[in-house]
Amino acid sequence: MKILGIESTAHTLGVGIYDSKKDEMRSNQKAYYKPVNEGIVPRKAAEYHALNANGVIEKALNEASLEMKDIDAIAYSAGPGLGPCLQTGATAASFLAGKFELPLIPVNHPHAHITVARWQTRFDDPLIIYVSGGNTQIITGTKKSKEFLPPFSVLGETLDIGLGNLFDMLSREMGDEFGHGSIVAAKAAKGKKYHLMPYTVKGVNFAFSGLFTFAKKRIGKMDENDLCYSLMETAFAEVCEAAERALMLTGKKEIIVCGGVAQNERLVQKLESMAKLHGARAATCDKIYNADNGAMIALAGFFEFERKKSIKADEFWTDQKWRIDLI
Ligand code: FE2
Repeated sequence: MKILGIESTAHTLGVGIYDSKKDEMRSNQKAYYKPVNEGIVPRKAAEYHALNANGVIEKALNEASLEMKDIDAIAYSAGPGLGPCLQTGATAASFLAGKFELPLIPVNHPHAHITVARWQTRFDDPLIIYVSGGNTQIITGTKKSKEFLPPFSVLGETLDIGLGNLFDMLSREMGDEFGHGSIVAAKAAKGKKYHLMPYTVKGVNFAFSGLFTFAKKRIGKMDENDLCYSLMETAFAEVCEAAERALMLTGKKEIIVCGGVAQNERLVQKLESMAKLHGARAATCDKIYNADNGAMIALAGFFEFERKKSIKADEFWTDQKWRIDLI
């Protein structure tokens, strides 16, 4: 079975194709909306996705050396995400499913991140640390035979903003033109002195907005590299403490860290060290799969199709707040 997946929850318009017979990603193409001197404006991002949808779908088919007649189903990100962006991706997916008479599969975005990370690490029954812009959650799933499937439970999560948003917001406050967490990470790598910052962990939950406010007030008053270093170390330590508690609670021996912020090697390194202390292993997948992408939507779409979750083209829907524990 060949599934074409469309991702459009935020900045990225991604289109990928997964071939279940070969258990292989046949293509993974994307276009990326870059806001200048502002946060993401949903309407502008959605317009960008609409303008690029045709081209990116064509590129994905070309990369896989396939035509639309070879595709067996269309999967799309149904949420959570920015309303106008989700609508654009869902409309494109519905159009393709209608025109080529294919089943349509709504996919939960965090579910896709988890699925692709597990597909690549081949971990058996992991504790999941999902870290992205809008979300930061500690999750467990249900192991059934070889697969790791819904229902998922959220053991702990951020009580305010996601890790990715924390870094993006700080980057913008520092005046970076294309404010992004990767800029904070690059500055943090050059930091030398750690300054104590607000640290909030409550059981298996954590919070970052106090940390952001504290750091924002120190911009221009302390070395910027040290500021980024201190903020990042503090935020990652919060996640590690909560993850350690969850590891003890569940007795699991594997940790998968996934989502956009899992591209940060320092976070993975810290989780690896913590896991090692308890005779467990931590790992992540390739950066191309931790960044938002269409291939992971196609892969999760396959498992959702197997769970009989496909719908007809004209039944498409989106849900901006679709939590992973409600799949
Ligand atoms: Fe994501």
